[in-house]
Formats: sequence, C-alpha cells, structure tokens
Amino acid sequence: MSYRIRSLMTALLMVLLPQVVLAASAPAVRGSGGAISSEHPEATRAGLEILQKGGNAVDAAVATALTLAVVYPEAGNLGGGGFAVVRMDGKITTLDFREVAPARATSDMYLGEDGEPISEASRVGPLAAGVPGSPTGLWELHRKHGRLPWAQVVEPARSLADGGFIVDKHLHRAIASKEEIFSRFPETAAVWLPGGKPPSVGSRMKLPDLAAALRGYAEKGPTAITTGAVAEAVERVSRRHGGILTADDLAAYKAAWREPIRFQAFGWEIASMPLPASGGIILGESLGLLERLGWQAQERYGARRRHLLIEVLRQSFADRFLMGDPTTTAVQPQDLLSDEALEERFKRIRPGQARSSEDLYPTAALVGVESHDTTHLSTVDAEGNLVALTTTINGLFGSCLYVPGAGFFLNNEMDDFAAAPGRPNMFGLVQGEANKVRPGRRMLSSMSPTIAWRSTAEGEEAVALGGRGGSRIPTNTLQVLLNIIADGDPLQSALDRPRLHHQWLPDIVQVEPDTLAPETRAALETMGHGFEVTSGTAKIEAVRRLPDGRVEAGTDPRVRATGAVLQPEL
Ligand code: GLY
Repeated sequence: MSYRIRSLMTALLMVLLPQVVLAASAPAVRGSGGAISSEHPEATRAGLEILQKGGNAVDAAVATALTLAVVYPEAGNLGGGGFAVVRMDGKITTLDFREVAPARATSDMYLGEDGEPISEASRVGPLAAGVPGSPTGLWELHRKHGRLPWAQVVEPARSLADGGFIVDKHLHRAIASKEEIFSRFPETAAVWLPGGKPPSVGSRMKLPDLAAALRGYAEKGPTAITTGAVAEAVERVSRRHGGILTADDLAAYKAAWREPIRFQAFGWEIASMPLPASGGIILGESLGLLERLGWQAQERYGARRRHLLIEVLRQSFADRFLMGDPTTTAVQPQDLLSDEALEERFKRIRPGQARSSEDLYPTAALVGVESHDTTHLSTVDAEGNLVALTTTINGLFGSCLYVPGAGFFLNNEMDDFAAAPGRPNMFGLVQGEANKVRPGRRMLSSMSPTIAWRSTAEGEEAVALGGRGGSRIPTNTLQVLLNIIADGDPLQSALDRPRLHHQWLPDIVQVEPDTLAPETRAALETMGHGFEVTSGTAKIEAVRRLPDGRVEAGTDPRVRATGAVLQPEL
C-alpha cells in the first residue's frame, strides 16, 4: 500500500477515535495505554475499544481476531485455526487452536489410483477443510486470561457483521481474484458475488448469518458453533460438495495449552509456539546457530552475514521435514535445540560456500507459489501483558466454500499436511511422513507467534510479533527479531528493512528488490547461492513495550497493516 493511502486511513481512524494515532509510517507510534497491530483498521479499532473499556491484552487480541473474521474474510476466521503466545503477569503460555484432520480423513485421500495427487482436492472445496479450531480457541484464550465479560469482547465483531462494513479495494480485489472458484459454489457466490460480481468498492457488506452465529457465541460460547444448527450447517454444505467434515468433528474439537519453545539469544529471553507450529523450533535453531557462527559481529549488510543466514535457514527448514503433530513428530524440539544438536549442525556450515539442499535430505525439489494466507495480530496492554496471535484459513478465503447458516468460510488447512509426502504443497514446502494425514492429527504449520523480552537497568523491554505468508513466516519473523535484538533497531525500522527467504527446497534465495547491494549479490553468487527477486514475502505485525513502560505499535509497510496505540505522547 502506498504511504498516501496509509495516511488517509490514518486520518480516517483519527476522526473515528480521537485518542488513537496510527503508526502509518516510521517511527512507530508510541504511547502508554496499550497497543495493537493488526492487518485491518476495523479490527485494530475493535481491539483499542476493548482496551479503552478496561480490557487486557488478551481481551483486545480476541476482539481483534473476531473482528478480522468479519471484515477480513480472506484470512480472519471462525472456520480456521491458529496459535497464540501470551505473556500475562510475567508468565508465558501458548494456546494451540490449530485445525485437526476430520475423523473420516485417510492418508491417501488426496492421491488418485495412480498414486499421483488429485488436482486441487487438498486446496479447494470441503475435502480441503480441517476441523475448525478458532471458535473453541478464542473462547478458551479469553476463559483463561480475559478480564472483560465474554459477550463484551465478542460485541464489536457481532455489531459489524450485523450492521455491515464497507468493502474496501483490498477485499474487492481479493474476491475478484477468486471469482471463478467462488462461482463453483452457489453458497459462496450467493454472498460474495452479489449479482454475479464481486461487491463494489464502497458498498456495505452485511453478514446476517455470521452476526447470528456471533450472537449465539456471545451468549453460549463455542458450543453455539460447534454443536446445533451452525455445526449442522457445516456438515450439510460439506456433504453437498463431497466433503467428509461432520458436526461430530466440530463437537469433538479441543484446543491445547502447550509449553512454549523457550530459548535465549543475543541477551533476550524468547518464547515461541511449539509443534504443530514449526516456527518456534525454526527460530530457536536459527538463532542458536547464528550466535555460534558469530553472525552479529559480521558486517551488517555484507555477504558473509547473508551467507550465514541463508545456510542457517536451509538447515532449519531441512529439519522441518521431520516435524509434524506433537504426538507423531519424528523429531522433538530438544533433538534440534540442544547444545549437541546445534554444535553438530554448526560444524556442517561452511564459512564461504553454499551447500546443496539436496545433500541435507535427498528428495524432489519443485518451485512453490506465493499465497496471501493467514493473518497476525499483536497486542500489549498498559500493564505490559502481551499477546502474539496468528490465525489462518490457509489460502485466501481458505477452501472458498462459504457455509450458509454459519457465515464463515471453511479453511483449506489440509494442504498443510504432506498430502503426498516428498512433494511440495502450495508454499512449495516439501514435507515428510511425520506430517501425513491421519484422523485427529494436527497439520504442521509455519506460523511463528513469538514474544521476546529482556531486563534493562531502566526496566523490562518486550516485543510481540509474528506474521502471515506461509513458509515465509518464520524466516521473516526471524529477521525482524534479529533487527531488534541483535542490531538494536527501532521497531518500525526493524519492520521496514528488506528481507530474504530460503526454505531448503526449492534451493533458491528469494530476495526483495532492495535486499542486496549488487556487489553483495555477486559475492554470494560466487559462493554458490542462486537468487530470485520477489515482491511477495511475509508481512510482520509487532508491538513493543519500552523499558520506561510506554508501548509502540509497528506495522509492515508491505501490507495494509494498522498499528495503533492508546494515549499517545503529546
Ligand atoms: N497455513 C499456513 C501455516 O499454518 O503455516
């Protein structure tokens, strides 16, 4: 988005909420009453309203996430799942509300008789859908840590679904990009292609089915969605289009509180999401290797630093091949994060020469595609509690199947399983047997919600961050974190800087146009690295608490993100 448009959005929100100032451009906006960073202004506004009403960081995160389910249907959801890392009163917890495979799922459900993947089956339509975790997860997050009454936290989303919201050009374009697929499903087309076309920019979109579902959710909690008429509506539409998802699957879903992945790097404490999110382990392994490699001491934009980062990412993503649901993964976090494991991998990295990815774990390599999936939000309240929450329906609008009588899209998260082990999924990720489809299993994720903190003489400093962008999430989260904890960047600069991505396979370094100076690229090519310039990379949202207790919201300039703080400094 251009800075001009972001400024206009800033101006609009400042009119709506005079106490609020958006972080439209560097530097990050700073204040003292709490901060939100999300990908939609209405969602950020909902989170701020909840903070203003006395809610804590969890109340604000849940209200923001639920509002995204209304105004940002391409990724916000009730029909998907996610992960949250919470730091409340100094204690860290994580909630896993990832989707699971339906009871009737089978390991070969996406393979034809010839053993080849069936085109689109894991990506479009109800067979692509895992059992949604968001209705249970967001409620559970609030049950354990929320402060305001539940109904009050749901209300901003319900009221927007009921009264309607304005279709902006982003939503219009997103729908237009899926017009052909939407038109395959009459239920989707009836709502999202009114008159056979995407709703026009500036039109008001009302979602009465979603408003009704949210009303029930506010009154009764998740059973209003996972049982009764809404769950039956899910089963009905799934069955009609050849799916296997049932109301019983929804009723059986359980969110899980999990121990975070914990480690230290560059003088900071870091907590991130454990399996089935691979992001925490990738961050821990990468940071552990970078410290051993003396990365921080290298010239900041020089070829040697870039080379080491690429090699570390190559290694971490190769190790991802062995990961899966926590109950069936072929590696446990300690197998990769112990001193011995890091030391052994450290020795394999060559100071001035690229390795071949195929040598790390031999398998097929194909090129993947960029996806606009997933959305991340970060919140911090006046007491310094923080939430990093990433939620997804996987691809844009998930499976593209909208559930009438429920008001939400079903995810296409089943594509995050190794639908065909050894072959790339929609992100080009090559995955192993540990991530094969099995009923009740959680599919491996790249999501990386993370909180980092350290004590300073002036007080405690903390940052909550994460992002969207499929396999690019951990690599981009890592680089923003490095900008802060290793290089001491201010929050907004840390988000603004160009980034790179390597995911083991395909064996290519993706770079944004300004990531490398020509001479640095030439030096890296001499070492054996290959490059592809891309404008599509992950988008990171972050908030920060400063040692003096003030807070900041930063936004990724690559996306329509809106960070905001309460009570900005005068
Ligand atoms: N669906 C993207 C992820 O979970 O990594």
